[in-house]
Amino acid sequence: MTMTAKPVRASHTTITELMIPSYANFGGKIHGGILLSLMDKVAFACATKHSGNYCVTVSVVGVEFLQPVEVGDLVSLLASVNYVGKTSMVIGIKVIAENVKLGLVKHTNTSYFTMVAKDDNDKPTIVPPLLLEDEEEVKRFIESLRMREIESLIKGKLDDVKSSIEVKQASEILKDQRCVIGY
Ligand SMILES: CC(C)(COP(=O)(O)OP(=O)(O)OC[C@H]1O[C@@H](n2cnc3c(N)ncnc32)[C@H](O)[C@@H]1OP(=O)(O)O)[C@@H](O)C(=O)NCCC(=O)NCCS
Repeated sequence: MTMTAKPVRASHTTITELMIPSYANFGGKIHGGILLSLMDKVAFACATKHSGNYCVTVSVVGVEFLQPVEVGDLVSLLASVNYVGKTSMVIGIKVIAENVKLGLVKHTNTSYFTMVAKDDNDKPTIVPPLLLEDEEEVKRFIESLRMREIESLIKGKLDDVKSSIEVKQASEILKDQRCVIGY
């Protein structure tokens, strides 16, 4: 059965939430975990809209908190499907924080959540193809495709690194590192 392609715009999803004092860390800024939880929710809603099935989070790329979010900021998370595979989707999430008093808006980060659609038996299930309606959507799709290829190369390399670590040479490998071997 061939599935009809769905446009990116059909599953655009935004969550907006006011950052209240109980979300703050000991430094008075918003906990990274609060933002991660909101990102996961918006990715879930966006992926579920596109696939028509409940989705699970498989991996997350590009989570960097380079600018703090403040108590009182109005945070918006804008999600769209950037890429679809067979059962997986890459959801791009742009996070912006608005100081509502001053009207200042900052872009805090853009992250990529890979979500997989599941059927009623908890098995991965096929998702509809993506209808790309402008150059930006084409660019994002290709970007995700390339990112997946790079991730798979990195994963292979990491597996090689893990299996070839020679602990007997640790004192030489770690001689310029800020650690002390205490055994
Ligand atoms: C991820 C999961 C669905 C993979 O299931 P599986 O039976 O091994 O299925 P497959 O190997 O066919 O993978 C399904 C899809 O996930 C993708 N996938 C699997 N591992 C991945 C990873 N580490 N990173 C990115 N994508 C991954 C595959 O590429 C495939 O995509 P495609 O169909 O578009 O090609 C399964 O391990 C799972 O359900 N994990 C728990 C997810 C969860 O509960 N998350 C919530 C957080 S607790």
